[in-house]
Amino acid sequence: MWINIYPDHISPYDSCRTLKESKADPAEVKVAVNLLKSLKKRLEEAQPQHTRLDAGFNKASFEDLMKRRFFYGLSNDIYGGVAGLYDLGPMGCALQANLLAQWRRHFVLEEQMLEVEATIMTPEPVLKASGHVDRFTDLMCQDTVTGENYRADHLLEAVLEKLIEAKDTPSELREKARTTIPLVDGLSGDKENLWRVMQEFDVRSPTGNPLSEPVDFNLMFSTSIGPSGNVKGFLRPETAQGIFTNFKRLYEFNNKRLPMAVAQIGKAFRNEIAPRSGLLRVREFTMAEVEHFIDPNDKSHKKFSLVKDVQMNLYAAADQEHARKPTVTTIGEAVASGMVANETIGYYMARIQLFLVSVGMKADRVRFRQHLSTEMAHYATDCWDAECFTSYGWIECVGCADRSAYDLTCHSKATGTELQAQEDIIPPVVKTVTEAVPNKQLVGKAFRKEAKFVNDALAALDSESAAAMGSALETSGKFTLKGTDANDYDITPEMVSVETKEKKFTVRNYTPSVVEPSFGIGTFYPILFIDCNCKQCG
Ligand code: ATP
Ligand code: GLY
Repeated sequence: MWINIYPDHISPYDSCRTLKESKADPAEVKVAVNLLKSLKKRLEEAQPQHTRLDAGFNKASFEDLMKRRFFYGLSNDIYGGVAGLYDLGPMGCALQANLLAQWRRHFVLEEQMLEVEATIMTPEPVLKASGHVDRFTDLMCQDTVTGENYRADHLLEAVLEKLIEAKDTPSELREKARTTIPLVDGLSGDKENLWRVMQEFDVRSPTGNPLSEPVDFNLMFSTSIGPSGNVKGFLRPETAQGIFTNFKRLYEFNNKRLPMAVAQIGKAFRNEIAPRSGLLRVREFTMAEVEHFIDPNDKSHKKFSLVKDVQMNLYAAADQEHARKPTVTTIGEAVASGMVANETIGYYMARIQLFLVSVGMKADRVRFRQHLSTEMAHYATDCWDAECFTSYGWIECVGCADRSAYDLTCHSKATGTELQAQEDIIPPVVKTVTEAVPNKQLVGKAFRKEAKFVNDALAALDSESAAAMGSALETSGKFTLKGTDANDYDITPEMVSVETKEKKFTVRNYTPSVVEPSFGIGTFYPILFIDCNCKQCG
């Protein structure tokens, strides 16, 4: 049902070159050249220069067809069903199995990743530490007449699209809508400004009623685990956390080598405020994610040269802010110019694009849009969404984020478990350092049950902070220390000795950074079929 444009995206070029260089049998070279030519021709055929959808495509009859052929259907519909919950039928299961098989081939096998399967049910402390309990939210508005809830940024987007398309929109207003639309995703994390812009464009509910101011709505489904109901938990909103909490085991399994890429495929759950059309935004869906752990001081990628010439359509944050067009360039140039922050995120963006094309998407209908700083998830320092142009407009179907060391740092702090990697320092270096050595007996006497937090905090002081504490104790006889439980403790000179000495370092400890491609597999179904001309799809 889809053609694999790049069955093996590197090897036809490589094999031609290798055969020519090794002066192989001319007949063999000819076969390889013909294969390369036919692949190029198929690629050209699959990439017509259009950005509008094919004429004649009808979204409603397409969705109807998918339901009639039981690719999917509303779950429990004989009881009325619930929005955002769908079952896959035999055709949907076959399609999903194909997609996942190709995803595993393209990512897990080709990149020699480690695969895990963690639990869906997640105890609250995990998601509290990761920031999801406090910050995994969307902004919601209520229709003040009917009480119906809506996602605030989607309402604004719909109004702007209408203003742009309507023939009778005054030209000044149309231009204002045109320059505002690229900023809507950025406003999705900025309550006050989003509300200001909504008022400016007089956004109302779809039935024309006034709306309440946007409020934060947490997207996680909560549950309780066990018969007593005392253990609070959530259905996971992403598969990523199960990889972070297994970092120690995985790092040891990988013989303590980095970079290390870990993949996971599985269900995720989000209590979407207003589930979007069809399968694009649902409440239970299959995710396929990779967490690629790297040294934060070296974000190069050893296979970057293999993808550097891949052409990409890149919509940088600055271009969105100034209502400019996306840039078409190679990923090599984008990384060299600094538009894309580093080789590792660039490598994955190119690999995502090759994956999308390999499952039948047209390259000229794929673009990568960089998140604006106000839009970024709480854990991300940079993020590019792969978006596909469909009858629903540009739809995000893959996220690719640099999560820095955020998650491992949070889980390490919350549990006291060391989630770090080690690098041998060759040759070892000798440095002058200042350390705080607690007098455990006196600390115990002074702080009793809290003594551990004080001892741990003293031991964790870096050289500079230990020296600063030393001079404060000398001059004022007192120092206020933040314990590892975040409380303040008054330290006196007898409780600690501050020593400066030469120390030999043979190992560097560091918390790895993470680059993460994140796929929602269901989002592909409607997108793939738009281009499909096979007999089954009519
Ligand atoms: P939205 O466009 O709804 O704001 P998001 O930015 O929250 O989506 P991410 O958190 O980046 O999405 O999720 C990563 C990927 O997971 C998305 O690119 C998409 O493919 C998929 N995804 C996210 N939410 C859903 C959902 N409710 N249903 C299906 N797939 C989803
Ligand atoms: N794991 C990425 C996301 O949920 O957005």
